[in-house]
Amino acid sequence: MADKSKFIEYIDDALEKSKETALSHLFFTYQGIPYPVTMCTAETFRALDAFEARSDDIVLASYPKCGSNWILHIVSELIFAVSKKKYTCPEFPVLECGDPEKYQRMKLFPSPRILTTHLHYDKLPQSIFKNKTKILVIFRNPKDTAVSFFHFHNDVPDIPSYASWDEFFRQFIKGQVSWGSYFDFAVNWNKYIDNENVKFILYEDLKENLVVGIKQISEFLGFSLTDEQFQAISAQTTFQAMRENSQETHGAIGPFLFRKGEVGDWKNLFNETQNQEMDERFKECLLKLKFVVFVKNWNIVVNVSF
Ligand code: A3P
Repeated sequence: MADKSKFIEYIDDALEKSKETALSHLFFTYQGIPYPVTMCTAETFRALDAFEARSDDIVLASYPKCGSNWILHIVSELIFAVSKKKYTCPEFPVLECGDPEKYQRMKLFPSPRILTTHLHYDKLPQSIFKNKTKILVIFRNPKDTAVSFFHFHNDVPDIPSYASWDEFFRQFIKGQVSWGSYFDFAVNWNKYIDNENVKFILYEDLKENLVVGIKQISEFLGFSLTDEQFQAISAQTTFQAMRENSQETHGAIGPFLFRKGEVGDWKNLFNETQNQEMDERFKECLLKLKFVVFVKNWNIVVNVSF
């Protein structure tokens, strides 16, 4: 987990900026993708190009609201179990967020560093590929992702709200939301699905069997733990456990970040037309990709017929 006070300080600062930012002014576009002005700047993106990744860094990539805070906590606990040192990162963990000087400061951080990101593979700094840094990519079905994203905007008091769920849905489908289109993100990462340094994991699989999921992550990262350690990490990383600690770990935004943690919550907001539109978009963008084989269980949770 990031150093508590720094993390909360960064979030408080972003929320303060959000208060003064209307939804119509929330985004700026960098290399074709919309990002929130409250968290990203063109200067930081330019500085990121020169970021020196290490071979023992761990990259956690996800589209927003797919469970990045969950994976970050799991991987932090794995590092703690193998090193006996509490994982702390004195920066906000999302690689592309913050001031351009953060990459200089990060040079001083001990290994392993966890780098979370919502960027496409193609937009990550080249040093990640050159140094064969391991990358975990977490996906969540797009319907629950959209619902979680909508609630985040509309429930957190200082973040600009959408007029309605219908309005958010339209923007989500068009990719006019922070970090752009879910589908473009999936299409881009799909190209690297067989890369030996890249491992895809599913939110829904973790929900179904957390211990098995944690073991797979641990194996990919080359860690060796006992069954008792896996059980202990699993108990610390359930939704309930993380939500209970969320004020302490994430400050005032905690309960909004750990909102419901369920599979299938989309059924509470989608109407039938939206459901079909999302299925169509999914098929149109992803049906011919290997990604579909990987997410085949989604037809049970999402309705889409592959
Ligand atoms: P909901 O809004 O559907 O509850 P991110 O961390 O990428 O912003 O994703 C946030 C989503 O992941 C939220 O979804 C949150 O509840 C869910 N989440 C976080 N920790 C979780 C956990 N331990 N188990 C299940 N879901 C979790």
